[in-house]
Amino acid sequence: MIDQLDRKIVRWCCAAIVCAFSTCAIAADSTTLPAATTLRAAAGDRLLIGTAIMASHLREPAHARLLAGQFNAITGGNEFKPDALQKINGKFTFERADEIVSFARENRMQVIGHTLVWHNQSPKWLYEDAAGKPLARETALENMRRHITTVVTHFKGKVKGWDVVNEAISDGGNDYLRDTPARRAIGDDYVEKAFEFARNADPDVELYYNDYNIELPGKREKCVRLLRELKAKGLRVDAVGIQGHWQLKHPAAQVIEDAIRAFAAEGVKVHVTELDIDVLPRTRQGAEITDTEKEGANPYVAGLPADIAGAQGDRYRSLFEVFVKFPGVVTRITFWGSHDGNTWLNDWPVRGRTNHPLLWDRQLQPKPAFDGVIDVLNKPSGG
Ligand code: XIL
Repeated sequence: MIDQLDRKIVRWCCAAIVCAFSTCAIAADSTTLPAATTLRAAAGDRLLIGTAIMASHLREPAHARLLAGQFNAITGGNEFKPDALQKINGKFTFERADEIVSFARENRMQVIGHTLVWHNQSPKWLYEDAAGKPLARETALENMRRHITTVVTHFKGKVKGWDVVNEAISDGGNDYLRDTPARRAIGDDYVEKAFEFARNADPDVELYYNDYNIELPGKREKCVRLLRELKAKGLRVDAVGIQGHWQLKHPAAQVIEDAIRAFAAEGVKVHVTELDIDVLPRTRQGAEITDTEKEGANPYVAGLPADIAGAQGDRYRSLFEVFVKFPGVVTRITFWGSHDGNTWLNDWPVRGRTNHPLLWDRQLQPKPAFDGVIDVLNKPSGG
């Protein structure tokens, strides 16, 4: 709202200056006005533009200024995950997540909670006994209920929405849900139970289902099935989060557009929740890597060549051209990080590489990727 206001004030001032110099013969139209120079100003109030951060970034002054200046939404990269909030049964640790909430409040940013139920970064005791066997259904359900209720209640009025369940859908062929500790203990209805517990804890908070590769046909159909099943149980899902860990050429923009349309047809909003464009070869993990793969696996240690940086800028531009085709449907786009020095892709799927997937380089300088995004957001038709 205020960003929109800021832009309007700039426009009025510009219009006044133009009038003064042209004796008001012509009124300034939007095409002659200066473009916004920050993502949040360019997005105005039609779109949340977010980033994932770590609480420690807030103690890096230049970085914190960039975050506050550019984004109007923020996700804790790790701080809101179950192992961060309740590593030990019954002992909740909210300090680092609370720091992020305070920073967001000071800088007029929305906070997105990530995540309540996930098979990674969750303490084992939630769904398994000490020997690794699934807990009895009632015990696991009670653990899940207590985690969700306590966490959602703590952040009531501070978090706009929660990734209630992350990555529940199976990648493989005909399997529907992924085999996870929560599912083994509780059963297939663990997903609906999570949505029920979250809604009961705070009827006003938005509830999201978040996953990767759900833009691809196959997993997309499974996600549509999940949305329908939740709806049939009387549960509310406000948005589907497509993670958006993408590459320079894959998946095609058309595939992403088709998926947005398919999810929108189910009556939910669509968020792009963890956007980054990997420029390194998607080398297979750990022991499976061959020597040949290793040699070619880390080619841009000295910096990203201009042609690849340009191609990445074009890629971001074409993705945002798709997103802005869906005003009111695609209502948030969150990058998974801010500058290339702090991306998880420096350590995934191989540790210790030099990746360049984001909008700013390691010196916090904007890349062609930034230009690609802001150009689209600045277009009058952009959303
Ligand atoms: C990543 C974090 O960025 C890393 O710091 C952490 O070591 C592993 O998790 N999908 C998700 C995110 O939903 O939570 C993951 O975040 C990246 C993949």
